[in-house]
Amino acid sequence: MCESINEATMLPLIPIVSDYRRRGIDFELIVPEDEWLRRLFINTNWAHHIQPNGYGPSTYRGGNVPALQFGVDETEDAGDILNRVMDLILRELDTNRGALKAIEWSLGEIMDNVSNHAESQVGGFVQATAFKNNNVVEFVVADAGIGIPESMGMTDHEHALRSSIDEGTTRDRSKNAGNGLYGSYRVSTLSGGRFAINSLHGELYYRPSDGSVQSHPRKVPYNGTSVLCGIHVGDPELLHKALRFKGQPHDPPYDYVERAFENREGELVFNMKERAQRDFASRQGGKRIRGMIENLLRDHPSVTFDFDGVAVISSSFADEVFGRLFVDMGPRAFMTRIQMRNVDPTVGGLIDRAIVQRTRLGNGDS
Ligand SMILES: Nc1ncnc2c1ncn2[C@@H]1O[C@H](COP(=O)(O)OP(=O)(O)O)[C@@H](O)[C@H]1O
Ligand SMILES: [Mg+2]
Repeated sequence: MCESINEATMLPLIPIVSDYRRRGIDFELIVPEDEWLRRLFINTNWAHHIQPNGYGPSTYRGGNVPALQFGVDETEDAGDILNRVMDLILRELDTNRGALKAIEWSLGEIMDNVSNHAESQVGGFVQATAFKNNNVVEFVVADAGIGIPESMGMTDHEHALRSSIDEGTTRDRSKNAGNGLYGSYRVSTLSGGRFAINSLHGELYYRPSDGSVQSHPRKVPYNGTSVLCGIHVGDPELLHKALRFKGQPHDPPYDYVERAFENREGELVFNMKERAQRDFASRQGGKRIRGMIENLLRDHPSVTFDFDGVAVISSSFADEVFGRLFVDMGPRAFMTRIQMRNVDPTVGGLIDRAIVQRTRLGNGDS
């Protein structure tokens, strides 16, 4: 009887189950009776990965990136997964470019570790969830590989996990810097979030109440590695505070915002058709896009909306994005910081009307 469950518990099971299947042992999933939980198992891809012949991949697009597999044939591209997680944070939470960089760096390092060290026959699995109530993103990366203690050649598993999060700890100095887990630990904990590792007979987690690192022996080994990060995404200083190696600040180049939005002139261009098509129909969609624009404007002087290929938007979407931004920012800031190009006359009319009406109402009413 399953009454409640979360990704921190479920995701680490997925690579283990997949590894059994690879060795010829199949699983049948009996989904929870509760309708909400049943849908959770399907939307998160847990059902799909546990019993692929019974459940197809999730098509749900809500506040999470479902469990996705990477690093072996015919699985997702690691870079695409990273982009999906960054897009999720930008849409759902209040954030800034520095925090986004710190999160992208951390997730990238933890996923790279699977490819570089784990020797997992089923690759790795990632899942991410955005929690609006406390402005936190949580992700878990898990594999069915040799485990951190084994990779580091250490027999004391608890000790191996503790040492893996120290600066400069690596199994191979000539190839690696040893900053991946150290940096991710710092990003998570300095943001006021969570951090935990399970690997073989070791278990390690950060205890926020006193800022200590706790570790325990596990009787039943976790046959692989699972890393959980919970990160508060609002602090503009997070990048500078957390990513320092040998005393030097680290600013990761070519970040998500640059890849996804910057053109050659360094302007931010928001392609409406590509990024907002699923949001045009509703007020809720408009809210998400406005949140995204507010995040981008936090670190950039202006954003250009490119409406190429967009023939119509709903008036509630136009109100939620342009009406409210206009009233929030005021006419002068709106006109200097928001540009629009390739606007179809119908769409232009809808935007104008939304701005006029919202100006009359003010942002208080809905
Ligand atoms: N998924 C994993 N599977 C096995 N070993 C791992 C995994 N992740 C990390 N490790 C071990 O922990 C060490 C520290 O990782 P990290 O801090 O990312 O440094 P680096 O990757 O530069 O060596 C690695 O050298 C490796 O021995
Ligand atoms: Mg690494």
